[in-house]
Amino acid sequence: MTGLFFAWRLVHPKPQFHDNGSATMHIDLLNPETFAHGHPLAQYQWLRDNDPVHWHDEPNGTGFWALTRFEDVAECGRQPLIYSSEPTIMITDPETGIDVSGGDHKMLLMMDPPQHTLLRKTISREFTRGPAAELRPRISELAATIVNKIIDRGECDFVAQVAGELPSYVIAELMGIPLDDGRDLYKLTEILHSAPAAVADGAQADAVTQMFAYAQAVYRDKKARPRDDLASQIVHAEVDGRSLDEIDFQLFFMLLIDAGGDTTRNLVAGGLYQLIQNPLALNDWQQHRSEALDHSARDELLRVVSPVIYMRRTLKKEVQLHGKTLQAGDKVVRYFGAANFDNRRFTTPLKLNLHRDANAQIAFGTGAHVCLGQHIARIEIDCMFHEVLTRMKDFHLLEKPVWLESNFISGIRKMPLQFQKS
Ligand code: HEM
Repeated sequence: MTGLFFAWRLVHPKPQFHDNGSATMHIDLLNPETFAHGHPLAQYQWLRDNDPVHWHDEPNGTGFWALTRFEDVAECGRQPLIYSSEPTIMITDPETGIDVSGGDHKMLLMMDPPQHTLLRKTISREFTRGPAAELRPRISELAATIVNKIIDRGECDFVAQVAGELPSYVIAELMGIPLDDGRDLYKLTEILHSAPAAVADGAQADAVTQMFAYAQAVYRDKKARPRDDLASQIVHAEVDGRSLDEIDFQLFFMLLIDAGGDTTRNLVAGGLYQLIQNPLALNDWQQHRSEALDHSARDELLRVVSPVIYMRRTLKKEVQLHGKTLQAGDKVVRYFGAANFDNRRFTTPLKLNLHRDANAQIAFGTGAHVCLGQHIARIEIDCMFHEVLTRMKDFHLLEKPVWLESNFISGIRKMPLQFQKS
């Protein structure tokens, strides 16, 4: 999901130390290193218990409040008129990067009601539970094709060859573009996700240009020759009496490619990694498959993997929270992984419990901006794990997984492993 915000990319600041009095803890939620092996559970726990509304310094910015308790993270999402998504949901403010927002055009994720409500309503039909469920047979077929390609080899990079394939195919199907193009566009987002030092000069700007050029061609094609796909629907949609124009379409296209790509990939790869670390749970799931267990296991993996690390909001007015005064204009950052490990909400949160009951995990967020693609994502996760659990077994990591360098998206970007055919 990071790619589309490359212009507002977090600079990678130097690690900082924050001393909070007697019971101290090194708190640094900005340095990507902090997330280099998954969520920083010790820092999260300390913050929830000692400083649930934590003032976090920001070397190149104003600083921000970090929310880590479940109830606070959830409630903040439910109050879009107080906690605004404008100008951005990234910690770093827009003026520190190149503005790709297209003048007064905004991306859905960074809009407030009433405009957000109108735009979301216009495009949300395909994403609701019913229409999403209709995609299941095709998604299941695609998941099987992906596993077919590696099943006889006995080893693979699980991220690139399995987990990363399905989301790009599914979005391509939705938008009515060739599957291979979906994969190529996804590769562009990978360039955007890389730390700037890891790619050639100008590569990220080129990737955005290519993405926008591709979206523009799709817009023109669907305008001239509408078909039965989401892209045609968006191209011909009207919001408040105004047709969506080319820039609206480009922004939404980029959001979908990005928001629906690495999140699902990271859930599937991170989920399998969790299972490999917990062989009893993996064995239990493989031996006792049922619809109920598939669903509770999937929600538990969403909870422990929490692919989106945070979403920022900006206060529209002063609020009091846990004895602190937060001023209008302050940045407030909601940490989903921290909320998902809150023992005020989950019993034994550190334990992977695939049978967990009434799992209110918050990986998809809450409120006005709650993940639009969550029903599709759940189907993708179900179909992918179905293939993996029924056709592959005895997973053996060939090397330590390599994690993304990001403080926004938590995920494994490389996980070579061996396996046996079931
Ligand atoms: C495991 C997979 C996924 C996770 C964990 C995830 C997580 C999230 C989160 C945390 C948000 C912001 C919620 C908030 O601000 O409270 C979000 C928004 C969004 N997601 Fe997802 N997502 C996933 C998959 C997908 C997929 C597959 C799609 C599209 C097919 C998608 C499309 C979107 C869109 C369009 C938004 C913006 C909604 C709005 O602003 O109204 N996501 N997602």
